[in-house]
Amino acid sequence: MKKNKVSKNWIIRQKRDIYVRQSHVDGFRSRAVYKLKQIDQKFKILKNNSIFIDLGAAPGSWSQYLAEKFNKSQIYSIDIKKMEDIKNVHQIIGDFTDSKVQKDLKKLINTKADVVLSDMAENTTGNKNVDAIVTGELCKSAMDFAGEILSKNGVFVSKIFMGLSFNEIVAEAKSIFKETHVYKPLSSRKESKESFIICKILR
Ligand SMILES: C[S@@+](CC[C@H](N)C(=O)[O-])C[C@H]1O[C@@H](n2cnc3c(N)ncnc32)[C@H](O)[C@@H]1O
Repeated sequence: MKKNKVSKNWIIRQKRDIYVRQSHVDGFRSRAVYKLKQIDQKFKILKNNSIFIDLGAAPGSWSQYLAEKFNKSQIYSIDIKKMEDIKNVHQIIGDFTDSKVQKDLKKLINTKADVVLSDMAENTTGNKNVDAIVTGELCKSAMDFAGEILSKNGVFVSKIFMGLSFNEIVAEAKSIFKETHVYKPLSSRKESKESFIICKILR
């Protein structure tokens, strides 16, 4: 399909999408917020007075939600892209896979975190196998970091694509955490290979 036909289809789909429309009504920057809300409704993972790390945060709907709902918490948001500032959110611009970025983040927080969230994804290539592998690598990197920075009862949530590395990632999660679930929220598009891995309590 030609590029301008793809973007035309994308615009039509966005206009029809109930979550896109709802995000405008609710004042969120992205429909992605409903994925986090639905994950939390099911697994009850978010609480006030927490230290949250939001990886792949831009344009910022997850951070907006955390800052509004859990206003006695600390929120650290990381993305390669700069996003518009959000009150009470500490924004870090950088590539999370860069070890220096991770080291600086640990230094900045200087204690254990309660929740590590990752919605990191690269632009999709159209090749579902390649996309699954690339997103899988981001998920693994976030999970290793979560294993180091989370408190004992900490929570890790990450986007994951069904594909070649899926079983390997779930097995790794089970070796790090006592509880592991895979869940596709209703707001995650049916045609997308996206799902989320939800992990609790370090081994
Ligand atoms: C689906 S968007 C996240 C949407 C976000 N959760 C929200 O609620 O607005 C994925 C983000 O991951 C970011 N990303 C991809 N690779 C990254 C990396 N290596 N380090 C940091 N951010 C990354 C992209 O720049 C993009 O903004």
